[in-house]
Amino acid sequence: MFEEKTYTERRQELKNYLKKGFYLFLGNKESPMNYPSNTYKFRQDSNFLYYFGIDEPDLAAIIDIDNDDEIIFGDDRTIDDIIWMGTQASLKEKAEECGVKKTAGFALLTGFVNKAAASGRRINYLPQYRAENSLLLQTLLKDSSAGQCSQDFIKAVIRQRSIKSPEEIEQIENALEISYEMNTAAMKLTKPGMHESAISGIIEGISLAKGNGVSFPVIFTVRGETLHNHYHGNIMKEGDLALLDSGAESDLHYASDITRTFPVNGKFSEKQKEIYNIVLKSQVNAISICKPGRKFKEIHLETAKIIASGLKDAGIMKGSTDDAVMAGAHALFFPHGLGHMLGLDVHDMEGLGENLVGYSEEVSRSDQFGLAYLRLAKELHTGFVTTIEPGIYFIPALIEKWKADNKHTNFINYNALERYMDFGGIRIEDNILITETGSRVLGRKPIPKTIEEVELCCR
Ligand code: GLY
Ligand code: MN
Ligand code: MN
Repeated sequence: MFEEKTYTERRQELKNYLKKGFYLFLGNKESPMNYPSNTYKFRQDSNFLYYFGIDEPDLAAIIDIDNDDEIIFGDDRTIDDIIWMGTQASLKEKAEECGVKKTAGFALLTGFVNKAAASGRRINYLPQYRAENSLLLQTLLKDSSAGQCSQDFIKAVIRQRSIKSPEEIEQIENALEISYEMNTAAMKLTKPGMHESAISGIIEGISLAKGNGVSFPVIFTVRGETLHNHYHGNIMKEGDLALLDSGAESDLHYASDITRTFPVNGKFSEKQKEIYNIVLKSQVNAISICKPGRKFKEIHLETAKIIASGLKDAGIMKGSTDDAVMAGAHALFFPHGLGHMLGLDVHDMEGLGENLVGYSEEVSRSDQFGLAYLRLAKELHTGFVTTIEPGIYFIPALIEKWKADNKHTNFINYNALERYMDFGGIRIEDNILITETGSRVLGRKPIPKTIEEVELCCR
């Protein structure tokens, strides 16, 4: 945990902002894999971690601003629990570590909520993403219509969690230190003839050996054109590109999220180099133009233009680059968004609502193919941490569909694409902090990124 004052100050800031009301926080429970007592690795809810820091299952908390009350609900381990799971600090001791003075048994939560509801008060809660907690909420609120998934509450949390403090940045950089190990190990160990799983297993092992495990399931594949490809069963061949999109969690559960693409045999072909350098140029440029006050959507579109212009030089696209990007033709090759917020969640706060996190009154979500997947579009502020992750992909099914539909024939050379149907995909992803004057790539050790650096590491 951070020091007690971090949590006390976070809750105080929330209370100052919201001014009044009754707020309910549900921590996570253990989640069974295949029978009740065989559970997945426990992951606490990130909002609960942010305001209370206690990394244990079966907790809930309330902040009652009107009565100046904060209570954590949970149960101490019984002697039976201790036999199987060991001793643990008491709930009272854990609550003290985050500056909360009152605790109560979990069973008392229902009565507490009912009493507040019966006196005409609104029970504000955040969106739920686990069935157990949705059911618990239904049980807690069954006799009243007083519960509300409150927009003001959600916005207050997003406003606060979006700006990272120095101690949060340090945590993200700790996660990135693990990412450095994961990525350089993958580059060094990957060889033709190996299964992808031989490498993805080692990468995941590094994240566990040095921290809390991965921040999302490892993407390691020679079929990088499938954006979130979690299949690890291919045998890697001479001439293939391997795409590794992975992240680790720091000890306090802050995430890293890095993508590197490298040749399985350690040497890029000329054809691979040409496409790689377009992605790299667009990524480095995007990082250099991020600064407070700029809308991330503009940076996404400028990146798309660099990609379209590079693909034009390669003979794959044609016509006016500006017009191609405005029409969305580049999205055949770059169908996803440039990046997303990063923090306690790898797609930070996405559970609170992607549009509330990434969009604003000034920027609303486009429905154009490709641009519609942009998770972050709004104006950047000092203290935001985002990913920058452009890519170029040759997705055979999508190319064939667009070709059959005669889509954007004025911008795409479909004949030239025949040479690229088995190319795969390239993505390069870093994590940046928006500073007062621009941005800084996070991580204490740069992860190999240029062709020369990657080939050197592969050797
Ligand atoms: N980890 C998936 C992504 O890069 O957003
Ligand atoms: Mn990623
Ligand atoms: Mn990402």
